[in-house]
Amino acid sequence: MSTETATPVVELANVTRRYGKNYAVRDASLAIHPGEVVGLVGDNGAGKSTIVKMISGYIEPTAGTIKVQGKPVRFGSPRQARAAGIETVYQDLAIVDEMALWRNFFLGQELHRNLLGIRYLRVKEMARICDEHLAEVGLTSVESSHQTAATLSGGERQSLAISRAIHFDSQLLVLDEPVAALSVRETRRVLEAIEDLGVLYIDHNMDHVLPAADRIVIMHRGTISRVVQKGDLTVDELSDAVAESGTAAADNGG
Ligand SMILES: Nc1ncnc2c1ncn2[C@@H]1O[C@H](COP(=O)(O)OP(=O)(O)OP(=O)(O)O)[C@@H](O)[C@H]1O
Ligand SMILES: [Mg+2]
Repeated sequence: MSTETATPVVELANVTRRYGKNYAVRDASLAIHPGEVVGLVGDNGAGKSTIVKMISGYIEPTAGTIKVQGKPVRFGSPRQARAAGIETVYQDLAIVDEMALWRNFFLGQELHRNLLGIRYLRVKEMARICDEHLAEVGLTSVESSHQTAATLSGGERQSLAISRAIHFDSQLLVLDEPVAALSVRETRRVLEAIEDLGVLYIDHNMDHVLPAADRIVIMHRGTISRVVQKGDLTVDELSDAVAESGTAAADNGG
């Protein structure tokens, strides 16, 4: 199946997010297909993280529709987005410091056992699965999944989220400014592990985005100003395009 005909894993149709009178994102339409890596670039304040927060359930759009596998969704919380197969990797959000690693790993998707009508958490099993996955992604500094997430570095937090994506067979992996060393290598690892995964990848460094992405979406001041295909532009041309899109949008919009 070609990516053009397959149902997008996630699609934004005319999505807007306002804060008071200000538009953080305005009328943005964007689709991520199975097996596709979409790069999202743009200046500071362009609206990239606002897009990410809407997709991952931290905020709701003011207008427009988000679809997962073709079905309109309204996420009231990050848990709901995760349950729908959207795994988001950022440096700070996504992980709860006070909770043990295994709890963070299974957040919203805990394993239970029923005993005489009472639901118990299957703690041992969850801790074991978490330990295995942390070892798999090379989180060697972690002694046990019973320690809290507060002990993890930024990159280690991202590794935890990536191992989660693999375990839960996510539909979409969102990487908002991942730690540089992690980005390209881990993205590839997850792509290999999960068939038909879509990836939305945000990075200021065009040297990272260009080799990783099949398609690159350029944002400026809340709107999508241009979409380029892999191979159409060099790193320098892409950097220029990001800067120029600013000039063009400013000329158009005043
Ligand atoms: N909670 C908020 N309240 C008011 N304005 C906000 C809020 N969050 C974001 N904005 C505004 O929305 C715009 C887009 O912000 P966003 O964080 O999406 O940009 P970004 O492209 O991720 O930038 P960066 O590259 O710096 O991370 C900015 O002008 C920002 O000030
Ligand atoms: Mg941002």
